[in-house]
Amino acid sequence: MAGNSIGKEFVVTTFGESHGKCVGVILDGCPAGLPLSEADVQTELDRRIPPKPGIVSGRVEKDRVSILSGVFNGLTTGAPIGMIVENKEAQSSDYEAIKDLPRPGHADYTAGVKYGRFNDYRGGGRFSGRATVALIMAGAVAKKLLNMVDVDVLAYTKAIGTVKMDQSPNAEEIKERKYRTAVRCPDLACAEKMEEEIVQAKKESDSVGGIIECAAFDVPAGVGEPLFDSLDSDIAKILLSVPAVKGVEFGEGFDAAGLKGSENNDPYQMQEGKIVASTNKAGGILGGISSGMPIVVRVAVKPTPSVGKEQKTVDITKMKDATIKVVGRHDPCVVPKAVPVVESAVAIVIADHMIRAGFLPKVLKVNE
Ligand SMILES: Cc1cc2nc3c(=O)[nH]c(=O)nc-3n(C[C@H](O)[C@H](O)[C@H](O)COP(=O)(O)O)c2cc1C
Repeated sequence: MAGNSIGKEFVVTTFGESHGKCVGVILDGCPAGLPLSEADVQTELDRRIPPKPGIVSGRVEKDRVSILSGVFNGLTTGAPIGMIVENKEAQSSDYEAIKDLPRPGHADYTAGVKYGRFNDYRGGGRFSGRATVALIMAGAVAKKLLNMVDVDVLAYTKAIGTVKMDQSPNAEEIKERKYRTAVRCPDLACAEKMEEEIVQAKKESDSVGGIIECAAFDVPAGVGEPLFDSLDSDIAKILLSVPAVKGVEFGEGFDAAGLKGSENNDPYQMQEGKIVASTNKAGGILGGISSGMPIVVRVAVKPTPSVGKEQKTVDITKMKDATIKVVGRHDPCVVPKAVPVVESAVAIVIADHMIRAGFLPKVLKVNE
């Protein structure tokens, strides 16, 4: 169980490997009475695969969710919700040739050391990006739950390689435009350049990374715990658990280090009888507790480790230097697929904290 669960009240446990039978999730603590169907979860899963073959791996699965438990008559029961997606498109032969050659940048070497090489290495096994399907399933439930209290969590692509979108779009712009582009960027002109960046990297048998921004709108002030259970540390933890995420920053983030206090503070003001801040450098969290401003977090996603370019590695059976050119189906950039994953991950933590802080009841609707 170690390392496979997250959350205190809304507890998400994931299982499954890239080339195993299925990827699945058990979600314990979801309030009873939430309307939930396979179609709700399917909509989120379908968003995982950008509709453009050149910019993602050739492994395009028709992922179909099955809800196994925890839902009765279209409503959650309060019992654990079990969901799976079967793996149907695995092509394990690609991994036989490189099973002794750890891919630089992937978890092959570290997982092999930790598990004495008993780990399922096919497709990266438990460390595959495919394992994030489980987060998307749990995130679909979290997002539905948050919608009951009018909280919206929206992520989009902010940068790919050297192409960066400068302005921060509002919720409507993100919602309306991001799924119109394969790279999940709401700035349509920028999106075209991002696509070119990915296509170019692929031509060079290489890969690119990028930045994803995620904002949670209308989270009330007062959600979060102090210190080690703070809202930002829990969000950072889940985001750093997404494979290939290497950095997390909130609001002004690392740039705050170069500002004066008077520039970085968000002054308060009264607006229609409510306390609001006139800026949001803090990214909606102070002292680990939500301020009522949008929660804004960005993640840095590294370039996909599996590249066709020749790289140095070692043969771990022969203990000799070697080289590797990774073949098989790999995303030249994981950012477009990771956008719904980041959105789900943030929604899961906010749902957990809103239940903990009493903003979401354990029973949403009492049966007559
Ligand atoms: C949605 C998604 C898809 C991914 N696809 C690939 C891929 O096709 N090839 C690859 O080498 N890595 C891919 N990754 C990244 C690796 O899983 C990740 O780099 C690896 O597990 C090592 O973990 P780390 O980068 O967090 O240290 C993907 C990650 C995500 C989130």
